[in-house]
Amino acid sequence: MPDNARSTFATVDIAASTPQQDLFARVLDPRSRANPYPLYTALRRQPVSRQADGTWVVSGYDEIAALLHDPRISSDMRNAGQTSAPGAERSFILRDPPSHHRLRSAVMARFTPAVVESLRDEIRRITGEHLDAAGSEGRVDIVDEIAYPLPVSVICTLLGIPPEDEARFHAWADALVRNLDLDPAMTPEEAEQIRQAIDGLADYLTQLTSERAKKPGDDLISGLLTGSTHTEPLRGEDLVATTRLLLVAGHETTVNLITNGMLTLLRHPETLARLGREPALVVPMVEELVRYEPSVQFRYRAALDDIDVGGTTIPRGSSVVLLLAAGSRDPHRFDRPEQFVPDRTPNEHLGFGGGIHYCVGAPLARLEAHIVLPELVRRLENPRLAEDPPPYRPTAALRGPRHLWLDVDRVRP
Ligand code: HEM
Repeated sequence: MPDNARSTFATVDIAASTPQQDLFARVLDPRSRANPYPLYTALRRQPVSRQADGTWVVSGYDEIAALLHDPRISSDMRNAGQTSAPGAERSFILRDPPSHHRLRSAVMARFTPAVVESLRDEIRRITGEHLDAAGSEGRVDIVDEIAYPLPVSVICTLLGIPPEDEARFHAWADALVRNLDLDPAMTPEEAEQIRQAIDGLADYLTQLTSERAKKPGDDLISGLLTGSTHTEPLRGEDLVATTRLLLVAGHETTVNLITNGMLTLLRHPETLARLGREPALVVPMVEELVRYEPSVQFRYRAALDDIDVGGTTIPRGSSVVLLLAAGSRDPHRFDRPEQFVPDRTPNEHLGFGGGIHYCVGAPLARLEAHIVLPELVRRLENPRLAEDPPPYRPTAALRGPRHLWLDVDRVRP
């Protein structure tokens, strides 16, 4: 049995024997990555719990939902005494009202349902192109060959990145993902390469946005520069930070949705076969995937005041973990929460967050998954998992396989 598989089963025993205050440290441990869910079950025994390092972990659905809507909860972690990465505090995912509202509204006014819908043909085309090139040796890596390149290409189209610059964008996206991995084995040279890539992206975006300011097109960056009837134009660092946020927030999350989706389908062959017969199943099924195997497992917040939640008081200045993935499997909210039910309704999961920071890109992520997953099922003949569980990236908050190798008889045209 591969090491990863052993750790999957080990998580169950670890969860049972670990003191409540040490459970979240276990979640962060890469050895729990293949199956953190027993740890979440153990955490939910006390839905608001203080961990040994002073962090408060919130794991019950109702408690998380209450905090997502509570104005005394901040997304700016400087309010819990933490420093943020250079430039990161300009990103609106880490801001509070009123500046959060100003920047988010500017994006929402331009990233409309019609804009998302206009990307449909392009998503189909890119998916087809990657599948045409995949599986020459009877083996496909869903991550490297399909899930990874697709979202970057789509975001480049959305932002209006010239096709000749797309390869550079892919390299920067790689670096940003490596940066998220916080790999303890990273060498100083790798760390320096990542830093250079982050600076390179900032320089590129600064130049691109100033070119667009002089000569606007019909892309999102030009739209943000122009503003709209109800929103101010974005300029300078706000514009660069917002563009970078769209790339970062929309990349790894979508990679993981596609990869976790394929993994889950292969572990549920009856659903895979049903999707082949009933393509419309993909709509509720993607929602269930975001509940059952969410790309974003948790988000950090800071308490601006003493906050009573679930019969416990979280003190002002605390760092708070909203364990969205645990809330989405809370038996108080969902029937059979540990089961993958592809046509589950209702399905008010927390996979895209909630409240004022609810995911801006959810319609785009859904559209990509709605197109890619049925196409993978249609074109991959007799797919089998080469390794289960697959190797995972170390990051706990954004959880997904590093590779997902499938053996296939062939890739159909
Ligand atoms: C499966 C794919 C995705 C998942 C699971 C996901 C999940 C999330 C979650 C949980 C949040 C809330 C963060 C918080 O409360 O702190 C969020 C926010 C956000 N997401 Fe996504 N996301 C996905 C795809 C995308 C895409 C494709 C884009 C853009 C192209 C995007 C852009 C954003 C932005 C800009 C925010 C910040 C919203 C705010 O702070 O107001 N996401 N996402």
